[in-house]
Amino acid sequence: MSVQKKHLVTAALPYANGPVHIGHLAGCYLPADLYVRYLKACGKEVLFICGSDEHGVPITIKAKKEGISPQQVVDKYHELMKKSFADFGIDFSYYGRTSSKIHHETAQKFFKKLYEKGAFKEEVTQQYYDEEAKQFLADRYITGTCPRCQNTEAYGDQCEKCGATLSSTDLINPKSTLSGAVPILKETKNWFLELDKLQPKIQKYIENQKKNWKTNVYGQCSSWLNEGLKPRAMTRDLDWGVKLPNEIKNAEGKVLYVWFDAPIGYISASKELLQNNAQFEDWWQNENTELVHFIGKDNIVFHCIIFPAMLMEHGNYILPTNVPANEFLNLEGEKISTSRNWAVWLDEYLKDLPERQDELRFVLTSIAPETKDSDFSWKDYQTRVNSELVSIFGNFINRVMVLSHKFYSGIVPELPVVSNEEILSKTTLANQEISKCIEQIKANLDNYKFRDALAQFVNIARTGNKYLAETEPWKLIKTDEQSTQYVMHRALQMCAALQAYSKIFIPHTAVKLAEQLNFDFNLKTISDVFEIEFKNGHILGKSEVLFKPVEDEEMEKQIEKLQQSKTENGQSANESEKNVLSEAQVKQSIAFEDFDKIDLRIGKVLEAEKVPKADKLLKLIVDLGFEKRTILSGIAEFYKPEDLIGKLVTVVVNLAPRKIRGIESHGMLLMAGNDQGKLICVGPEQDIEAGSIVK
Ligand code: MF3
Ligand code: ZN
Repeated sequence: MSVQKKHLVTAALPYANGPVHIGHLAGCYLPADLYVRYLKACGKEVLFICGSDEHGVPITIKAKKEGISPQQVVDKYHELMKKSFADFGIDFSYYGRTSSKIHHETAQKFFKKLYEKGAFKEEVTQQYYDEEAKQFLADRYITGTCPRCQNTEAYGDQCEKCGATLSSTDLINPKSTLSGAVPILKETKNWFLELDKLQPKIQKYIENQKKNWKTNVYGQCSSWLNEGLKPRAMTRDLDWGVKLPNEIKNAEGKVLYVWFDAPIGYISASKELLQNNAQFEDWWQNENTELVHFIGKDNIVFHCIIFPAMLMEHGNYILPTNVPANEFLNLEGEKISTSRNWAVWLDEYLKDLPERQDELRFVLTSIAPETKDSDFSWKDYQTRVNSELVSIFGNFINRVMVLSHKFYSGIVPELPVVSNEEILSKTTLANQEISKCIEQIKANLDNYKFRDALAQFVNIARTGNKYLAETEPWKLIKTDEQSTQYVMHRALQMCAALQAYSKIFIPHTAVKLAEQLNFDFNLKTISDVFEIEFKNGHILGKSEVLFKPVEDEEMEKQIEKLQQSKTENGQSANESEKNVLSEAQVKQSIAFEDFDKIDLRIGKVLEAEKVPKADKLLKLIVDLGFEKRTILSGIAEFYKPEDLIGKLVTVVVNLAPRKIRGIESHGMLLMAGNDQGKLICVGPEQDIEAGSIVK
């Protein structure tokens, strides 16, 4: 007999810099929890690990914002997040934190082992340094003009307006957010993991796994691999994080890169839980363990390439078997934004809609962003709760319970032998239908398709309702008592199946339902619903309504609350974030007079050249009819200089001039851009003189 696999499931350690919101839940924690609950229900041995990610720049930025220490930030949010997860039934075996002593030791030991094995190369590079604040600057601590879209508030790692991935040296006019000073480049030594050398091994690993991986995950990996992996610094000049091990010389003022220490958090949290070494190894160093990481799509490279590379180099650990990453959840058509308070926070949700955890689990599962970004809206929430949980699921259970009490004083009737052919054939059909649902639930859960699994779960109740509608036990009882008894027994078996499966999707309801049925059913034993056995004379509990309809007023309050955060944060919102438009969105309408303030003209590109040391910038000389102007444009990724010469473009002529990389740029080219960040010039559709007015 083959040994049964053990399942080590992790969910991304969330940064402890804010409360948990619905995007977190839908994208990562809920699917992980469903998967774990399913495995456990099947009798598998499972460890479900998560914890707070308490290092890295996101924490220090929050601390600065709130005027408290990073430790105070993580202490506050660690507890808050842990509680939210528990409130929503996310059933971690252990929820750790990366500020723990065991974590620091584990991460240091891990680093030391790699260091001794020669996995790192030491390299001196130039990093931005703030002479006033006397510290090196993480990319997030530098802002400047985005070379691609000219957004003046781009961050050193990313422009939130156009989505470009940047490195801080790409920024035009960089500025330290700590002091406002212009940073200088200063030499510093760091330790780089030689991913380039590991590429063949990583490639082989990914190719071996890919048949089971989601296409979005494999796609991202292969694009990284195709570009060629580069050495990546695993240390940072920062004072918040895990210190380098003592043995490493000249490492003052340095900590481990947060993406080095955080995934080790899975390991250290397991250690804290299991305590003894043999047990720990039995999970993490056992070929019989399936290691599965649930994450959001922004974490793919870290879990599919960097962490496996670390594990490989270490040598003692198993590698992830699967990384079912999700896309993002939007809210009312817009990107969830913590800083703009455009989110539904779990703690606030529970205050406003008490005891409605399962409703949120249900809705978020049914719209989970499994293959593409998806959208949460309150209207849709109300519809799904009312039409599915209330009208289908709740209604079925309630009808069966009420009738059982009415007809049989709450005692499950025995299964009689009946000869009513019509009833028998309707029952057989319902049974086939439900067996199919159950098969589908399992197959979908095995393949991380939680939306489809949930739909099939609802289908069981739907089939139950249909069965009642067709057999009409409330009428049947007047003419055929035997058959009524038979139908009610079958209907109770369907309720039992729903109870067993609700433990995965809506666990709080599962408890209530177990009380009503006076039994907690085991789904492992259910393959044919009609084999579910009630003991003779089984007494049912009290019948109670499981789901209350969501009222319009409740939803109006939520929508109003969101509107309010929009007005409150509208003005103060980071300019760049405010301007992020997806293709589906439209800006607010403006008066014609406002539009008319913009002076648009057709220009002809006379000269074009690359700006030295700025990968994305082109310097253009544009003929505007009345004069020739120098204009810088961040389009070098999309146009070769020579291709632009002679081109007719549309120019915003009366935009105030500004200096970029010491060059004065006067005016701006109009570009069409899509959600993937691709840009093309907007020009006239036929030839026309330079200087023509666009109106
Ligand atoms: N804190 C990271 C984030 O929120 C995720 C860390 S996952 C881990 O994006 F593997 F590093 F733990
Ligand atoms: Zn940009």
